[in-house]
Amino acid sequence: MRDYGAALRPLWTLDKSVRFLNHGSYGATPKALLEAQSRWRARMEAQPVRFMAELPGLLRDAATSCAAFVGVSPDRFAFVENATAGVNSVVRSLCLSRGDEILTTDHVYGAVRQTLRHVAATTGARLVEAPLGLPVASAGRIVDAIAQHIGKRTKLVVVDHIASPSAIVFPVREIVALCRDAGVPVLVDAAHAPGQVHLDVDALGADWCVGNFHKWLCAPKGAGFLAIADRALPAIHPPVISHGYGQGFAAEFDWIGTRDPTAWLCAPDACAFHDDLGGEALRRRNHTLVIEAAREIAWALKSGLSAPEHMLGSMASVRVPGATPCDLPTALRIHDLLLERHAIEAPLVPFCGAMWIRISAHAYNEAADYRGLGEALREIVAELAPG
Ligand SMILES: Cc1ncc(COP(=O)(O)O)c(C=O)c1O
Repeated sequence: MRDYGAALRPLWTLDKSVRFLNHGSYGATPKALLEAQSRWRARMEAQPVRFMAELPGLLRDAATSCAAFVGVSPDRFAFVENATAGVNSVVRSLCLSRGDEILTTDHVYGAVRQTLRHVAATTGARLVEAPLGLPVASAGRIVDAIAQHIGKRTKLVVVDHIASPSAIVFPVREIVALCRDAGVPVLVDAAHAPGQVHLDVDALGADWCVGNFHKWLCAPKGAGFLAIADRALPAIHPPVISHGYGQGFAAEFDWIGTRDPTAWLCAPDACAFHDDLGGEALRRRNHTLVIEAAREIAWALKSGLSAPEHMLGSMASVRVPGATPCDLPTALRIHDLLLERHAIEAPLVPFCGAMWIRISAHAYNEAADYRGLGEALREIVAELAPG
């Protein structure tokens, strides 16, 4: 196996004094990709008018290579700023009405929940969250919970590929098959999937899939995508309507006003960077590293993981017992103390009545990054305990 861990750390600009265990929230972009972005910016600013004239072709070239990476044909692939923009495009393009139901789970990402709430409020539809709770015992439990909540009124299912608070890799293929059998369109939120698991959008069979290149593939921030299935579906429009309106999916999304497109133009380099680091071998190594670390933390805390190990990717959530009150201020306090005292950056999440720490592993992490984290959490929680 190649050298991962500290040997690769200089490829990133990450602060050397911090043990960075939160790749999941915003990714982290290596120097080489930041330099590639600077070169695109220099080219754009040398001759802005010519660059914008060339942009449609440049974007389609980038789309062709990124679409192949995520397993979809380029005419059904569009860049968006981020997964949130992709979800908004889909959900706000659908014609929902009073009495319709949008079904998701209680693990849905907060911003996506807000989008769904907004659409429900403006159309009279009802948002239904199938409760999964945490920990989740099996993949079948997730499929069953969704199946139990699909009804005659369900007009859309929105499901995570990898859930943010729990780090669980959902059985998306089975969920999509269930929805298709029930005749209900399904949107897969794969914000965390590319670079953390193998993603083959067409094989999933979802009606729509959104994802990010800027998380686990380390592209510059602002590189997301929206992919649509190869069948007759309602037209999906970008959140901003511009020159491309009515000219087809790709044309509508490729130009929605003057923007900095350089994150998208670097996305093919991000896919290549991932492959250069080992592709599947890197993903497997990251999974093993994060699971071993999670086991140690769970052992120190006498607690457990959010799900069986095979249901996790390059992130793992571990329950932090005794953190009271179990709320956001407590989570932030523990986070800040971990950072101040132990130089560890990792998110704490109050979720389903318990506190969870979510750790991540990328190429630049190694076992030493997680050492003592369980004990540090135990001490901090004891110190914060009332009385
Ligand atoms: C499951 C999920 N969906 C959507 C998002 C939003 O991603 P972005 O901020 O890139 O839109 C996140 C962010 O962490 C996420 O975890």
